Amino acid sequence: MISPETAPSLAGLSRLQALAATRAYLRNCGIEEADADARLLVFSAGGFDALGLLQNPDAGLTASQAARLEEFVRRRADREPATRIIGRRPFWTVDIAVRPNVLDPRADSEAVVRLALRMMTKRAASPSRILDAGSGSGALLCALLSEFPGAFGIAVDLSYDACDAARLNLAANGLATRAGVVRANWVDAFSGAFDLIVSNPPYLKSGEIRGLDPEVGGHDPHLALDGGPDGLAAYRTLFSRAPGALVSNGVLIVEHGLGQGAELREMARGYGLSEAGLEKDLAGRERTFAVQTDKS
Ligand SMILES: C[S@@+](CC[C@H](N)C(=O)[O-])C[C@H]1O[C@@H](n2cnc3c(N)ncnc32)[C@H](O)[C@@H]1O
Repeated sequence: MISPETAPSLAGLSRLQALAATRAYLRNCGIEEADADARLLVFSAGGFDALGLLQNPDAGLTASQAARLEEFVRRRADREPATRIIGRRPFWTVDIAVRPNVLDPRADSEAVVRLALRMMTKRAASPSRILDAGSGSGALLCALLSEFPGAFGIAVDLSYDACDAARLNLAANGLATRAGVVRANWVDAFSGAFDLIVSNPPYLKSGEIRGLDPEVGGHDPHLALDGGPDGLAAYRTLFSRAPGALVSNGVLIVEHGLGQGAELREMARGYGLSEAGLEKDLAGRERTFAVQTDKS
């Protein structure tokens, strides 16, 4: 294992050499996703993409590109996630700015978008009002509004930083005119208006937070991770209050942690909600389910 102090000098290297040196260094540092992360960092620091690398592998990095990449590599070796270093994350078909103190959205959450598309195509009409409860960066709402061009959406979060990030991401994706951002506690500010509510609430047990990898525990905000003693506190609130914010037969879709699905579906039934569909993540693990109120 090499320490961050021995990060390589990348000055004078070609694109291809810089990629190889970055990859090798990150691997030696024990970074699991060394290959993918090296590409993200090199492309971002060098201002080229995979095609640019293929077409011009021997082009040299400029001095400022090399210095930028050296800084990126030191930060990654220090266990800062690559997406936070470059400040971007592709999510579904939208581009999301990853900001300090706001959860870095994960590809697993795209299961919520897939389930929403399936649930909404079963209905006669597309949703006209969507609420993203605990919206963080606004990734889910951006993806949903891009899929439902006739819809208006609200992003709700308790964190000021998250609200700022959602505003920025909605605007950057050309969705600001169809969206609002509200700082509030879950769905408390609303009644009876939404066809679809999605939520990826915090779902870790409080006691699990200390054992998290530094990439997660050291960078994603506590408010986005801590789901209370059993990890399920936010779901109790959502299952009890979301029906009041939905139209008749509106749909609530929640993401959850691994292994929490059965207990949560049982909990939802206890709140009088009927199960309406579930979806797995890309690794085939249950990640999200939909419920409906029995109102008609
Ligand atoms: C796991 S993150 C999900 C963020 C985003 N939806 C995503 O999937 O990337 C949970 C979010 O819930 C927010 N949150 C926590 N408690 C909340 C509350 N009482 N009311 C509203 N939002 C809350 C956090 O600030 C955080 O942004």
